[in-house]
Amino acid sequence: MSIRPATVVDPGPDQTTLKGLCKPSPFLEIEGLHAGYGRTEILHGLNLFVGKGQSLCIIGPNGAGKSTVLHSIFGFTRITQGRIEKDGNNITTLSPNQKLQRAGVAYILQDNSVFAEMTVEENLLMGAYLLKGKHRVRDAVERVLEKYPRLAERHHQKAGALSGGERRLLEISRALIMEPEVLLVDEPTIGLEPRFIDQVFEILGELQHKEGKTIIMVEQNAKKGLEFADIGYVLVSGKLAMADAASDLLQSTEVGRLFLGG
Ligand SMILES: Nc1ncnc2c1ncn2[C@@H]1O[C@H](COP(=O)(O)OP(=O)(O)O)[C@@H](O)[C@H]1O
Ligand SMILES: [Mg+2]
Repeated sequence: MSIRPATVVDPGPDQTTLKGLCKPSPFLEIEGLHAGYGRTEILHGLNLFVGKGQSLCIIGPNGAGKSTVLHSIFGFTRITQGRIEKDGNNITTLSPNQKLQRAGVAYILQDNSVFAEMTVEENLLMGAYLLKGKHRVRDAVERVLEKYPRLAERHHQKAGALSGGERRLLEISRALIMEPEVLLVDEPTIGLEPRFIDQVFEILGELQHKEGKTIIMVEQNAKKGLEFADIGYVLVSGKLAMADAASDLLQSTEVGRLFLGG
């Protein structure tokens, strides 16, 4: 890929450019992040900015570190340098539980993560493990079931009996139990039959536009991801190679050639 050598010398988009893509202003901010697993550094000085109620999609080759960006925001990586802020608060070193409980950040797993042998309702209860008090748990589960009648109709059925699209919906719903403001979504359409893909984007679009959730997403289907999001980032070898309004990135010949098969 010809983009690789170029990025070694190219410092990538600067912070002013990145902040300029945020409307109205940056809400979740990552500055100069160095992070990885054990001794291996995967992200080398990453900057990322997204406004409240905006969506940002990260695309890039396999192994570029896209999932690691989401892992880092949620607290799954070793961060050696840099800062993550939400709404002006430093959340860099909070644990995943603290992210969910205090910082309003939720992570939706990439893989098929529903418990197939448990009912829909029991799966939702798993999302409420940090809530104290039976009533709060009950209210949270009911609130989510009210939102999605398709799940409510099946709340006593085993999750393994759901369609691929419904399982995805259950995974998203489980993350909504804690009423997060920021949703981290890793490859929401992976493994889904085409007819469910648009449904998943519809659900995420509603969460963004009707409920004001801020969404940071990784999507291997670059076209779908960029069509959905407000902001698009291209990550290559743990560094930002390109960033723009997602609709402009879709028009870029370089992105087209490398990621859109055009
Ligand atoms: N839990 C982990 N422990 C160690 N290395 C990991 C772990 N997860 C990912 N990696 C490594 O980090 C690099 C980036 O992976 P990842 O963020 O999953 O890339 P992407 O999502 O862009 O495909 C890869 O080299 C991968 O092998
Ligand atoms: Mg990944």
